[in-house]
Amino acid sequence: MFSDMSAQWLLLLIFLVLTAFVYKTNVILGKETGIPGPRGWPVIGHLPLLHRKKIVHRTMMNLAQKYGPLYELRLGMLKVLIISSPDLAKEILKIQDASFADRPLTVMGELFGYQRKDIIYSPTDDHWRFMKKLGSEFMSSKAMQKQQVSRHETLMTAVDSLLECQQNQFIDLREELLDMMLTLIPQMLFGKRLIAGKSVAKSSESNIMKKLTQLFKELAKLDLSVVGDCFPFLRWLDVGGAEARIVKLHLQFDNILSDAMNALRREAPPATSEDPGLMQTLLSIQRTEEGKNITDDEIKALVTDLFIAGIDTISSTLMFVMAELMRNPEVKEKLLKELDEVVGRERVVEESDLVNLKYLKMVIKETFRLHPAVPFLLPRKSMGPATVAGYKVPKDTQVLINLYAIQRSPESWDDPTSFKPERFANNLIDVKGQDFCLLPFGAGRRQCPGMGLGGLMVEITLATLLQILEFSLPAGMKPEDVDMTEEATITSALVSPLLVSVKPRLSPNLCSMRT
Ligand code: HEM
Repeated sequence: MFSDMSAQWLLLLIFLVLTAFVYKTNVILGKETGIPGPRGWPVIGHLPLLHRKKIVHRTMMNLAQKYGPLYELRLGMLKVLIISSPDLAKEILKIQDASFADRPLTVMGELFGYQRKDIIYSPTDDHWRFMKKLGSEFMSSKAMQKQQVSRHETLMTAVDSLLECQQNQFIDLREELLDMMLTLIPQMLFGKRLIAGKSVAKSSESNIMKKLTQLFKELAKLDLSVVGDCFPFLRWLDVGGAEARIVKLHLQFDNILSDAMNALRREAPPATSEDPGLMQTLLSIQRTEEGKNITDDEIKALVTDLFIAGIDTISSTLMFVMAELMRNPEVKEKLLKELDEVVGRERVVEESDLVNLKYLKMVIKETFRLHPAVPFLLPRKSMGPATVAGYKVPKDTQVLINLYAIQRSPESWDDPTSFKPERFANNLIDVKGQDFCLLPFGAGRRQCPGMGLGGLMVEITLATLLQILEFSLPAGMKPEDVDMTEEATITSALVSPLLVSVKPRLSPNLCSMRT
């Protein structure tokens, strides 16, 4: 008698043999594209390249040196084009943007995108446009203005808690920056009252913050290489159980969102001066004649997108910029000098000062270049047959743009692996999606709609932390000892803790929310 496990593996074997047959038949029928690429394993193709322990964007950058700026990989049954040059990125994201604007169908998109009702995973259609319009309630300049007071208070509270750490006691800045964003973004999504546990919510809702943090950290550890995405006909077997883990996390997440929604529906409307948070704003729109068709799932899908897309990207950028500043003390000194000249030490930096902090912007731009938070742009796929660089690309081919390779390319950048903010002093290259050698927010139709908000949050958080606090490395540790080894799933992160001690840089009454 077979156990359940053995039966599953036997079935898997049968299906793999069938897949090998289908693959072989495709080769015989001449469906190969002729695009260069490394030889893959039978059936599984290049899936071993995606192993969690590998730094995929680096491996793929090295492959580009051998196979060129456009090569093909096979992930199970999926054909994937890897793009590693500014010119080809422009071809996909600008010249043929309309033909490559869809996202591939994935298990994550089905679950966390609420059957692709969100922005990230949705096909590029009228519904996607509608969701982007709803999302502007959170990401437009007007919304960002409304969130300003709450953003400042939360940042100052974070400074307080950093200062609570005794001098000479080291904190891991990676954790602190992530926790900071895990407070800031949910507060903007759910409103301050709910997050602070001050709403009418009963106990099940009041620790929403704790539950969200825990779930987010579990989600970050999740292995996203789901067998069903690469072998759709094997999805029901869920070999390795990745899909079951995603389903479980999604259910927990969905419950938290439903609780939050119920609690907010029972709330009295917040005072007009208070930022109600995105979810409450969407619930108010849902009560109007114009918004009555917006479903609860659409609200949850949008909130989930912004929760997932906002937190990791901002905290990853801040983590890398702080690590580079600890490694490059002369850059840090120059930044502090600029802060002293523009803002002084008699008041705390404000968002209105940012426009004058030119060197701060150069430091952040250089961090976006050297350490893109999203090393591959989110996957796109060909919506019909297309031709790229003279090669025929069949419908439904996935396209991955390797930003990491493009932004470190010696063809586009002098001394590409060094951290040199000064390289932006006399050049107009920007991150807005017009310069295809620097695309931290992507470009074209599917460009990041949170670019303004993300950029602002990185700038104001960095300026506030550096102006108010003095950061030092542990005694005996040299700047060059800061370990920059990275790892990445969708977003990039430092592998080792970033240990620093902090002490106040401004007078105590300016450093705290409590005074
Ligand atoms: C430093 C911060 C951020 C970085 C570096 C970043 C980067 C990116 C990148 C590279 C993409 C893919 C673009 C493409 O495929 O061409 C993206 C998409 C997206 N981002 Fe951001 N992002 C940041 C902050 C945010 C924030 C704060 C939000 C909202 C709260 C956000 C919401 C989104 C959404 C909804 C998409 C999907 C757009 C679509 O598919 O149409 N991002 N982001």
